[in-house]
Amino acid sequence: MRARAAVLTEVKKPLEIWEVDIDPPREGEVLVRVVAAGVCHSDLHYIQGDLEAVLPAVPGHEGAGVVEAVGSGVTRFQPGDPVLFVFRAFCGQCFYCLNGRPALCDFSNPIRRTGRMFDGTTRFHRDGQDVHHILGVSCFAEYTVVPEQGLLKLPADVPLDRAALVGCGVTTGVGAVLFAAGVRPGESVLVIGCGGVGLNVVQGAALVGAGPIIAADIVPQKLEWARQLGATHTVNPKEQDLLEAVRSLTEGRGADYAFEVIGRAETIQQAYAATRKGGTMVVVGLTPMGTAIPLDPLDLLRSEKTIKGTVYGSANLPRDIPRLIELYRLGQLKLDELISRRLRLEEINQGFEAMLAGSVARSIIVL
Ligand code: APR
Ligand code: ZN
Repeated sequence: MRARAAVLTEVKKPLEIWEVDIDPPREGEVLVRVVAAGVCHSDLHYIQGDLEAVLPAVPGHEGAGVVEAVGSGVTRFQPGDPVLFVFRAFCGQCFYCLNGRPALCDFSNPIRRTGRMFDGTTRFHRDGQDVHHILGVSCFAEYTVVPEQGLLKLPADVPLDRAALVGCGVTTGVGAVLFAAGVRPGESVLVIGCGGVGLNVVQGAALVGAGPIIAADIVPQKLEWARQLGATHTVNPKEQDLLEAVRSLTEGRGADYAFEVIGRAETIQQAYAATRKGGTMVVVGLTPMGTAIPLDPLDLLRSEKTIKGTVYGSANLPRDIPRLIELYRLGQLKLDELISRRLRLEEINQGFEAMLAGSVARSIIVL
């Protein structure tokens, strides 16, 4: 079949809309009609070359759609099923999966590394040339083929544009609080960077009854959204010393938990400095490959701080994603509020421009 896809042809260039040939799903694969795809900063990392991908390739890893066809051996999905893409397809059987940590499963490493499906070929082509997959999702396209392990079934009554956000930003942000850090009621939280993911760290902190919840961002509108999602205090580090502000809100100690949700060495250091003795600094933002931060082991020892990384919110994906969707249905998790703009596929580069300009929480591509 033929379909339109947004293709990254070269780093630091806008995506191009190509008409691509899409092969039918092979063994263990599923063809999905994409309904909605979120514009996430991680896609921008590929565009900017901060993360490596085999090009040309179709980005997009936060999305939802409807199963169009299944390959041989696929028994869990049928045409017509509403599904969410999981950008770390997991096997369900390895040490990590059995320990409730599917995001650490190595199963889909070959797809991530090569941009090809497990059999070494791609399902996207143009003029006989291979067009590669990114993270095994590639949902900036009208149709995509993914391994069945990279899908979760969605309830029929949840709007797919809202559900799409749970595929990355919501689970990553809310999960960082609930599952990675395990924040408890009354504990203090600092969130540095209130974009699509950081706002979800804020709402995760509100969900567990943390407080104070201090949101920091250099864009005033982001701070406004952070307040709407449950931040009790906001700080613009351009106008106020962040460390001083955090200390004054935490009896001079620093935050119990400080989340960095940008992916920059300087802000990771700020988060570490703003963490209280015995507290935990959580790195959520993706730094460009090769980034290093200085660490004073003596300070680490004396302060007894914990430095924690988290991927995909450290969520037990098949257990926790349905829970997050259920919290949305119960009105306890905000999804509608996160969508600032809806764009058509041809307008996708505007989504990245708006992200860089700081004018959106999340843009959604509606197909
Ligand atoms: N101090 C505070 N906030 C900052 C600073 C700074 N020095 N620099 C940038 N920001 C804010 C931006 O204003 C923006 O609101 O960080 C936010 C980043 O948000 P987005 O660009 O929307 O990115 P998002 O999709 O939320 O992803 C954040 O998490 O999963 C990773 O790959 C993702 O690294 C990315 C990070
Ligand atoms: Zn993402």
